[in-house]
Amino acid sequence: MDVRSAFTSTFLLLLALWMPLPALASTELYIVYMGEKKHDDPSLVIASHHDVLTSLLGSKDEALKSIVYSYKHGFSGFAAMLTESQAEELSSLLQRARHGEDIIVGVVDSGIWPESRSFDDRGYGPVPARWKGTCETGAEFNASSCNRKIIGVRWYTGGVEADALQGEFMSARDMGGHGTHVASTIAGSPVRNASSGGLAAGVARGGAPRARLAIYKACWGARTRCGGAAILAAIDDATNDGVDVLSLSLGGFEEFAGTLHAVARGIPVVFSGMNDGPAPQTVRNTVPWVITVAATMMDRSFPTVMQLGNNERLVGQSHYSDDAAVNTSEFRMLVHSRRCNNVTQLASANASGNVVLCYEPSDTPFNHPGQKLGSAIDNVKNLGAKGLIFAGYSSNVLDRTDSCNGIMPCVLVDYEIANRIAFYIASTRSPVVRISPAKSVVGDTVLSPRVASFSARGPSAEYPGILKPDIAAPGVSILAAVRNSYQFMSGTSMACPHVSAIIALLKSIHPDWSPAMIKSAIITTGMSSRPRYSINFT
Ligand SMILES: *[C@@H]1O[C@H](CO)[C@@H](O)[C@H](O)[C@H]1NC(C)=O
Ligand SMILES: *[C@@H]1O[C@H](CO)[C@@H](O)[C@H](O)[C@H]1NC(C)=O
Ligand SMILES: *[C@@H]1O[C@H](CO)[C@@H](O)[C@H](O)[C@H]1NC(C)=O
Ligand SMILES: *[C@@H]1O[C@H](CO)[C@@H](O)[C@H](O)[C@H]1NC(C)=O
Ligand SMILES: *[C@@H]1O[C@H](CO)[C@@H](O)[C@H](O)[C@H]1NC(C)=O
Repeated sequence: MDVRSAFTSTFLLLLALWMPLPALASTELYIVYMGEKKHDDPSLVIASHHDVLTSLLGSKDEALKSIVYSYKHGFSGFAAMLTESQAEELSSLLQRARHGEDIIVGVVDSGIWPESRSFDDRGYGPVPARWKGTCETGAEFNASSCNRKIIGVRWYTGGVEADALQGEFMSARDMGGHGTHVASTIAGSPVRNASSGGLAAGVARGGAPRARLAIYKACWGARTRCGGAAILAAIDDATNDGVDVLSLSLGGFEEFAGTLHAVARGIPVVFSGMNDGPAPQTVRNTVPWVITVAATMMDRSFPTVMQLGNNERLVGQSHYSDDAAVNTSEFRMLVHSRRCNNVTQLASANASGNVVLCYEPSDTPFNHPGQKLGSAIDNVKNLGAKGLIFAGYSSNVLDRTDSCNGIMPCVLVDYEIANRIAFYIASTRSPVVRISPAKSVVGDTVLSPRVASFSARGPSAEYPGILKPDIAAPGVSILAAVRNSYQFMSGTSMACPHVSAIIALLKSIHPDWSPAMIKSAIITTGMSSRPRYSINFT
């Protein structure tokens, strides 16, 4: 439902042209059942009904006039006054894409964790007869690791650096988690009560939850390093195996000109635009025939309240969930260190047993906060601190605070908040702070939709005459499968699979559309307004 609502406007535009006098047609009351509700907050469920009706009727006013009831507690649905043809149109819109049923999505990445609940194949029909791929077995991956959901796997070690293969599964099994995350974002079956330690709790599912997956492992090791030659071999095999869409959340290799042959055979190819923003001319994977995807934030955030000893309450962002290991009702001593990535400076800050504010007033937001955060977390942990408040909030570094979970809260704040905390520390004899677990908040219109700072920007240095990236999709704090759990990841790698899923849905409605038609449909109908319901699959 989520994705299709983004596309209804195209069909309805056509519909409006065919119906010269829609106002004269008589309306009747129709009940539209949309199944399980996707949000606990009734106002969000109601808003989703308005979105569907607005797409159908052309304006929010018309939608509000037509709706009679919104069903929002037990299930999602509504009753509305519609003409017979509007009801038919709505019904076919809701059914035609069939959640991407039988579309085969090829994913070139770090492999897959086949036991994840997201790849449960219960209720699936036989593998489509046109599928020519295979289930290549290997370490901890036998023929029964494939099923009617993961219909094929292959793996490629040729040309991959030897140290990236160290400690790896010599098979399509995913060690690092990146490939599993991406695959479940595209086609994960619905899984109830997924969360990261209770955060972002709900039904996790891919954008095309009934699509089939063909997995090509060309990226290896804990740092997910890919081989250019291996990727090209994967693309070559996938083209021949019969995939309908190719999704590549990786990049920067010259070999990608090879994707032209896949596109020439009718297979849309989707790439992440990479994460070297916000500087201009950083976008990669810009050959004109592929779809290059940028990352946006979504309207979901994880505010974390810090209460100072003077009762001032300030808010940062973290993925710190309610955790028995840390007593969150306790105030702890607060200390300030200017550079936590410098062990010498941190050592003089009395970090042990305390909460450390890491804040260098001269820092700028473009000073690669991510790299410094990584070493700050390690250093502060090693010294036995009980918490970290790090100045330099930027959407790509939030996931790094996940490594604090179970040990201490790690909170990101912007420079203004950091400044206020530093002022408090300087002006108090015994500064203390209490950090509460993060909350999941949906409907944050300040954050969404905004291009994430890390998302690489155009124009393309290689092909300056071609407008790139082509489209943006959610790529910040995306919850999806990693091994047998669900974890947050951020990056254009997480945005790319959202677009691949939309293509799977489009292909099930329009199997005859060329890659150029699909690309055109996507980039001309992407909504620039607040896309509350078109984006949040997980
Ligand atoms: C395949 O692997 C699974 C788990 O990894 C195991 O339970 C099963 O016995 C294996 N099947 C064969 C035929 O080896
Ligand atoms: C949902 O998940 C949470 C956290 O993982 C767990 O504590 C809870 O028991 C689960 N609830 C259900 C109904 O499975
Ligand atoms: C948590 O800290 C509060 C305040 O210091 C204290 O009263 C409480 O006993 C602590 N709880 C646990 C489980 O340690
Ligand atoms: C760390 O801080 C100390 C003390 O301020 C300074 O002398 C040293 O050069 C710094 N080290 C690095 C690597 O920046
Ligand atoms: C260092 O922190 C500990 C633990 O909070 C505290 O007991 C001690 O007084 C602090 N030392 C100084 C010199 O501030």
